[in-house]
Amino acid sequence: MDLYSDITQRIDTFYKELKQNNPLFIAIFSGTIKPEQLQFFLGNITHNMAQGIESLAMAKNASQQRGDTKFTEYYANRFHEECHHVAWAEADEEKIKEITQSTPDIEPDSALVDMTHWFREKIKEDPAIFMAYSFFAEYFTVISGEESAHAIENKCQIPASCINNITTHAEIDKHHIEDWREDIKQLIDEETYRDAFIQATEYCMQQYDSFCRNIMEIEIEAVA
Ligand SMILES: [Fe+2]
Repeated sequence: MDLYSDITQRIDTFYKELKQNNPLFIAIFSGTIKPEQLQFFLGNITHNMAQGIESLAMAKNASQQRGDTKFTEYYANRFHEECHHVAWAEADEEKIKEITQSTPDIEPDSALVDMTHWFREKIKEDPAIFMAYSFFAEYFTVISGEESAHAIENKCQIPASCINNITTHAEIDKHHIEDWREDIKQLIDEETYRDAFIQATEYCMQQYDSFCRNIMEIEIEAVA
């Protein structure tokens, strides 16, 4: 199996399990998530996107230092595209604020903070590994975005416009996903990187699952 198929199958399975076992996804699809919980989720998405953009810049610089022109160009392109997108996440936060009528202090979630640090250490060792993070983020958004937005609007009665950042990404990242199989072939030797990419993907899934669980625990204190 090529690396693209291996990774996408793992993320497909992860998403199915998330809907069955993760309290946040269970709440979204059963119509019980509260706007206050979504607000904490969205606050973290904004923060994590900003961190991701900084990591892209680090990966670009690290690639440049290694004289890797292909990866330098790849990360530079990703950086220039992504740096405009944080504004979408910030706009979502403004919309959810209108619904909750509150501006809570949203601490960056520890699972996401750990993930940022983990990848930055990896970038120092070998910036190619950060590609696995971008792939997880985009592929997961594509497979989950539209369905989650539909449930948020129709089951939870929260306007889907509050997660415009996610649905817009789900749409535009579809095109990135189509390029991934080719990008992997152009940029890395699949067999050399197979284990490292799978490890990084598994790590992303574990941290994202923890992040969503943590959000639902905040709710008990903040909303109750
Ligand atoms: Fe983006």
